[in-house]
Amino acid sequence: MSGGRIPRAFIDDLLARVDIVELIDSHVPLKKTGANYVARCPFHTEKTPSFSVNSNKQFFHCFGCGASGNAISFLMDFNHLDFVEAVEDLAAFAGLDVPRENASATLAQDKVDLQGLYDLMGRVAEFYVQQLRASAAGKHAVAYLKKRDVSGEAAKTFMLGYAPQDWQELAKRFNQRELLDAGLLGSNDNGGLYARFRHRVMFPIRDKRGRVIGFGGRVLDDSLPKYLNSPETPLFHKGREVYGLYELLKKNAKPPRILLVEGYMDVIALAQLGVDYAVAALGTATSQAHLELLFRYTSELVFCFDGDNAGREAIWKAMEAAFSVLQDGRQIRVMLLPPPHDPDSWVREQGVERFVGHMQDSQVLSDYFFGHLTQEYNLNEMEGRAQFVNKAKPYLARLPDSLFKEMMFAKLQELGRVDVAEKRVVPDRFPSRPPQKNSRPPLERQTLAMLVQNPGLLEVLEEKGVDWEGLDFKGADKFKSILKVMLAKKPINTGVLLEYYRDSVDEGIVKQLMSTKLEVPLAGIEAEFCGAWERLLEHAADVRFDRLLVKLQREGLSQQEKEAFQKLSMDRIRK
Ligand code: UTP
Ligand code: MN
Repeated sequence: MSGGRIPRAFIDDLLARVDIVELIDSHVPLKKTGANYVARCPFHTEKTPSFSVNSNKQFFHCFGCGASGNAISFLMDFNHLDFVEAVEDLAAFAGLDVPRENASATLAQDKVDLQGLYDLMGRVAEFYVQQLRASAAGKHAVAYLKKRDVSGEAAKTFMLGYAPQDWQELAKRFNQRELLDAGLLGSNDNGGLYARFRHRVMFPIRDKRGRVIGFGGRVLDDSLPKYLNSPETPLFHKGREVYGLYELLKKNAKPPRILLVEGYMDVIALAQLGVDYAVAALGTATSQAHLELLFRYTSELVFCFDGDNAGREAIWKAMEAAFSVLQDGRQIRVMLLPPPHDPDSWVREQGVERFVGHMQDSQVLSDYFFGHLTQEYNLNEMEGRAQFVNKAKPYLARLPDSLFKEMMFAKLQELGRVDVAEKRVVPDRFPSRPPQKNSRPPLERQTLAMLVQNPGLLEVLEEKGVDWEGLDFKGADKFKSILKVMLAKKPINTGVLLEYYRDSVDEGIVKQLMSTKLEVPLAGIEAEFCGAWERLLEHAADVRFDRLLVKLQREGLSQQEKEAFQKLSMDRIRK
């Protein structure tokens, strides 16, 4: 399903064609009130509806939680999709195929094969379940799960199964070529086939949409290797998936926190006892992709690892990835368990309440980081401090620019007793003003809000012109840059305009403008906007007049400037 980039023009066209009201209504039933459609917000819990969808703008906005966006944003947020997945689903909704740049004929072929593989994996998972429940050998697996105190309900939730010893059992039911592609059969040097998973308890790994993409399999005794996992296949990329995410999201689409543990059995034991927000990395180091994936659903992650050396190492390995994704508003905690416990044994011993208590008391990542390093180096000696600073600095450098980053550097400086100040990482912000309640937003802002919410008003700009030089007020650069984008792209509606700003620094500002409540009814917008634009142009003319006047008094004007000055003076007299 991968392949070339999706052409920009297709996305514009798609957003122009679909009706966001129809799309959202098929997920969250909407009620018409006035110009908008409303519902209780699907992104936060509320009793009275503050979620509103506007058909002209092709834009949704929740006055309660501030969620907003176009049709693509809605699918991304509602169904937890990434951008490409959302475009694909939206295209399917509109009955369109997604074209790809440089797409060759083989890509279409790949796509068919992938669907076949998904189907196969789903059917094999069901086969394993049936083997667990109904086959003679499956009884051993059931006994094993009982011994581990896995409830029947948990086995069902996680679709646990049993892989029989004999590879023919798979081969006679499914297509051999597909089984090979799916990593369920392997071939040895002599070309003989064997089943990867034999006589094991099977843990299907599902993607967030619930499709089986891989398996883990555990032996029923102490033999080795204890766990086997699916190899990398077209469906399965270990570094990008976590175990238990689908099951977690089914329980809670926006969990307040997600617990990252090491093992399959940990996820299951925790879920069974009520901590149904744990996932496991699949026997690989925690990657940045894992963390980005999890931070799509929550703002707090808890690394819950064994307190033995391996667990400590695993946490340290995760540190680089963790620092890279720690932007403001995201938090990571570190919960180390007393050896020889893992989450499975620890939650069973402590009970859920105490386990959750420990979790809430666990260290934040920054404390863990500095605690660990200050133990490792002797900070009473200069050499130790130098090593400490050298070790810590590259990690801190990975932090996204934020107040938190500055604080971390300050701490490093304090502990290392040395000046390691990087350049200031927090950009100077506008001086913060207390919010002015009930006062109208300034004219510029109001004008820009009208424009982004009604891109048809661009005609007014084209007719009356833009005084690029004279437009001079706080925030004028941003104002002009948004005008330029709009004039260049001529978006057909607000939703299309928003798409140009996805993931850009200005996305937040543009969304705010799009969500600003306009006091003018739709029918009066054009007149109101014309008036506002004229006032801005007058203000711009004043600015240019004043500038020239100052220059005239100080150093005199060029011929061209003189002419401009005269024209401006005449205009002022005529008014
Ligand atoms: P653990 O040995 O801690 O797993 O390995 P666990 O879930 O606690 O195992 P048991 O069933 O309670 O004994 C943690 C994870 O590392 C991967 C698996 O993903 C496992 O869940 N692993 C472990 C392997 O991939 N292969 C192995 O041989 C061992
Ligand atoms: Mn265990």
